[in-house]
Amino acid sequence: MTKSPNIHHYLSFLSLLLLLLHLPKARSETNATSSVSYETHVFPYFTGDDGNTNLSIRADASISKGALQITPDSFNVRPYLVNKSGRVFFKDPFKLWEDRDHPLRYVASFNITFSININRPDNKTPGEGLAFVIAPDTANPPPGSDGGYLGLTNATTDGNSSNSFVAVELDTVKESYDPDDNHVGLNLNSVASNITTPLTPLNITIATLGNGINYTVWIDYDGAARHISVYMAVRGRSKPNLAVLNTSLDISNYVRQWSYFGFSASTGITYQLNCVLDWNITVEKLPDDRNPGWWKWYLAGGLVLGALVVAMLLLVARSKRRKRVGVLDRRVLSDKLKSLPGMPREFKFETLKKATNKFDTKMKLGEGGFGEVYMGLLRAENDVTVAVKKFSRASSKGQDDFLAELTIINCLRHKHLVPLRGWCHKNGVLLLVYEYMPNGSLDQHLFGGPSRPLLSWDRRYNILTGVASALHYLHYEYNQMVVHRDIKCSNIMLDSAFDARLGDFGLARALNTDKTSYTDIDVAGTRGYIAPECLLTHKFTRESDVYAFGAVILAVVCGCGPIFANFQPLVDWVWRFHREGRILDAVDPLLGTGYKPEEAERLLLLGLACSHPSPGERPKTQAIVQIISNSAPPPEVPPFKPAFVLPAEAIDEGDTSSRLTSSAGTSSAGEWFRQSLSLDVQEGESDSSSLQGEGIRNQR
Ligand SMILES: *[C@@H]1O[C@H](CO)[C@@H](O)[C@H](O)[C@H]1NC(C)=O
Ligand SMILES: *[C@@H]1O[C@H](CO)[C@@H](O)[C@H](O)[C@H]1NC(C)=O
Ligand SMILES: *[C@@H]1O[C@H](CO)[C@@H](O)[C@H](O)[C@H]1NC(C)=O
Ligand SMILES: *[C@@H]1O[C@H](CO)[C@@H](O)[C@H](O)[C@H]1NC(C)=O
Ligand SMILES: *[C@@H]1O[C@H](CO)[C@@H](O)[C@H](O)[C@H]1NC(C)=O
Ligand SMILES: *[C@@H]1O[C@H](CO)[C@@H](O)[C@H](O)[C@H]1NC(C)=O
Ligand SMILES: *[C@@H]1O[C@H](CO)[C@@H](O)[C@H](O)[C@H]1NC(C)=O
Ligand SMILES: *[C@@H]1O[C@H](CO)[C@@H](O)[C@H](O)[C@H]1NC(C)=O
Ligand SMILES: *[C@@H]1O[C@H](CO)[C@@H](O)[C@H](O)[C@H]1NC(C)=O
Ligand SMILES: *[C@@H]1O[C@H](CO)[C@@H](O)[C@H](O)[C@H]1NC(C)=O
Ligand SMILES: *[C@@H]1O[C@H](CO)[C@@H](O)[C@H](O)[C@H]1NC(C)=O
Repeated sequence: MTKSPNIHHYLSFLSLLLLLLHLPKARSETNATSSVSYETHVFPYFTGDDGNTNLSIRADASISKGALQITPDSFNVRPYLVNKSGRVFFKDPFKLWEDRDHPLRYVASFNITFSININRPDNKTPGEGLAFVIAPDTANPPPGSDGGYLGLTNATTDGNSSNSFVAVELDTVKESYDPDDNHVGLNLNSVASNITTPLTPLNITIATLGNGINYTVWIDYDGAARHISVYMAVRGRSKPNLAVLNTSLDISNYVRQWSYFGFSASTGITYQLNCVLDWNITVEKLPDDRNPGWWKWYLAGGLVLGALVVAMLLLVARSKRRKRVGVLDRRVLSDKLKSLPGMPREFKFETLKKATNKFDTKMKLGEGGFGEVYMGLLRAENDVTVAVKKFSRASSKGQDDFLAELTIINCLRHKHLVPLRGWCHKNGVLLLVYEYMPNGSLDQHLFGGPSRPLLSWDRRYNILTGVASALHYLHYEYNQMVVHRDIKCSNIMLDSAFDARLGDFGLARALNTDKTSYTDIDVAGTRGYIAPECLLTHKFTRESDVYAFGAVILAVVCGCGPIFANFQPLVDWVWRFHREGRILDAVDPLLGTGYKPEEAERLLLLGLACSHPSPGERPKTQAIVQIISNSAPPPEVPPFKPAFVLPAEAIDEGDTSSRLTSSAGTSSAGEWFRQSLSLDVQEGESDSSSLQGEGIRNQR
């Protein structure tokens, strides 16, 4: 050994960095700025088109004369249209809170304004009222919800917490629980308001005579302060300083995480016309992620603590550092890395510590077999949000291979691959910095449960198109062939435009021998992506990547994992539908009719072709790209899944470096580490029989 121990330590750091790359991507990646962003919808008036595209109109509601008539107009109809109820919702739900179980859970802020015209016939008593409502669904008003129930509840359901709604009512009839017949109230799962404010003393009359007076209502909800304020003024006047209703309210105690905004109204034995003339919706966007929101709270707290505290923390850290013997020479490492072309840059440890508020557990996004992932905010860089992966385990073997591997990974450039922003090492702590990816990973959207908005067909198609092009790049377009080895839905990240970003390329081998990694992943799901020949040969090839991509295609189209109910392989299930000539029955039922049948059939056939048990029969990525882009016809797929025939060349190779399972004899960390380090990279074209993963050193 001629190398200095320093270099060894140095390289072991690199290897750890690479392992970190492989942490489960439950939530990480991509570009989102830390500043709060809002989603805004403006309806200056309403058209029939809104009814078709933006709004869900329920029961007795309609759009007429530029306004929402939540209950019908009885101008020309006698007797008056009494005992009616209606609802109108914005068609998409909004995410209103995060991290329900955590004491600091984040709640979205929103500002709603709308103008109303509520008029009653001359000399008649008005009835009954209109409410702005945050509801769990866009369902019809329940039966019996006319009269005092305002279309919100009925005699059976009123007050039941499973109603999951919060409403602001403008009530024009005095019920037994009401203060008067002209008030605003806050309704929590019940039409018996939690608090009310009579409006007559404020010179506001909700139900005016004839065409009457238009009023604008402002509902401001401050999610951080858990406070709601309601303002009212004659339309056209500015927002008053004094609220008509103002109280603390934690909506996350009442409404669903994803809820709909809308209006509800009713008439009773008396009649009024309940109109909404305009509507502005502004809602804070929460990261669409399983475990987000955290960092905002954390940062808010950190900022309040101020520079003094930060400085103290730094001092403490520095003194601690001085006492420690540095494991690695950062400068040597840094120089080495800088010599690599296009290397992600080095971050200062202090920068990342600050960004993650000293790696506070409250900033933690996730945890994997090798370390933890934190949300970070790079304040010096326009408040860019990043995901910081922290790893502190040490290893002393296999560094050369990792350096080689890093060289390759670092040179890969493709718009559908996840890029690394940088790295950092300090006091034996290794850090990798990624852009934060607000839309998480594909599996979260496909299997995230009913609270997630459905991933539309066009997005699904676009995601598969992106992954196919990334795969083609790795297999054929890069000057050395790279086999990904771990293609699965949880490794496909989605950027802010829902474009696919393939992560963890070239690293699978490092994990495949590590038992702890299996505890991080759904074993059944992972198994569904592994080609049958790999289980025997323990070798990963372009063909096994294609097999895994086939499993992804089927999962995306069918909306379920590659191994689903009772460990039935999805591919067999789809193949049966294909055989029975009804392959479209396999399409995700949640899509309803919201998909293109020719596209779905093309993808399903492609998914089956990629799942062919014999590696040689699977399409190559070039054909896959052509089929997905519809420049080649869909593949011919036999009615019965062919039997798996072990490729002749598969068994006689002694490649122990890519074992799929770790045997007892290689269970020490150092052993598996060393065994797992080489990357399947070959120069030029080569067929699967020659892809033995000798490591790139052997090519030189
Ligand atoms: C983040 O994305 C926005 C648009 O989506 C873009 O304008 C901005 O430059 C990006 N920032 C970084 C740091 O990539
Ligand atoms: C209504 O839907 C149309 C078509 O999807 C869209 O262009 C428009 O922005 C939507 N309007 C609002 C206020 O969301
Ligand atoms: C409206 O409902 C009330 C009470 O439920 C009932 O007494 C009245 O007859 C109903 N009127 C009409 C026209 O249905
Ligand atoms: C919402 O209203 C509050 C005042 O009530 C205001 O401070 C805030 O800027 C508004 N937010 C947006 C996004 O309009
Ligand atoms: C109230 O609505 C529920 C459905 O939401 C229905 O099952 C129940 O019968 C209704 N009760 C009355 C009194 O109409
Ligand atoms: C509340 O509603 C749920 C579901 O509709 C029902 O199971 C439950 O019995 C109701 N509770 C009360 C107190 O009525
Ligand atoms: C209003 O809500 C608060 C908090 O949920 C509760 O303590 C209070 O009793 C409610 N008041 C009424 C009148 O329902
Ligand atoms: C009450 O409101 C009406 C209509 O906006 C207005 O004409 C009148 O001057 C107001 N009166 C007071 C005392 O503010
Ligand atoms: C109320 O608004 C409607 C629709 O914008 C308008 O036609 C009407 O003139 C307004 N009425 C008053 C009194 O301003
Ligand atoms: C909210 O209510 C409090 C007391 O109930 C009052 O002091 C404060 O001025 C109100 N805020 C607004 C904006 O009306
Ligand atoms: C609604 O938004 C539009 C466009 O931003 C703005 O012109 C209008 O004043 C807003 N309405 C209210 C009541 O704030």
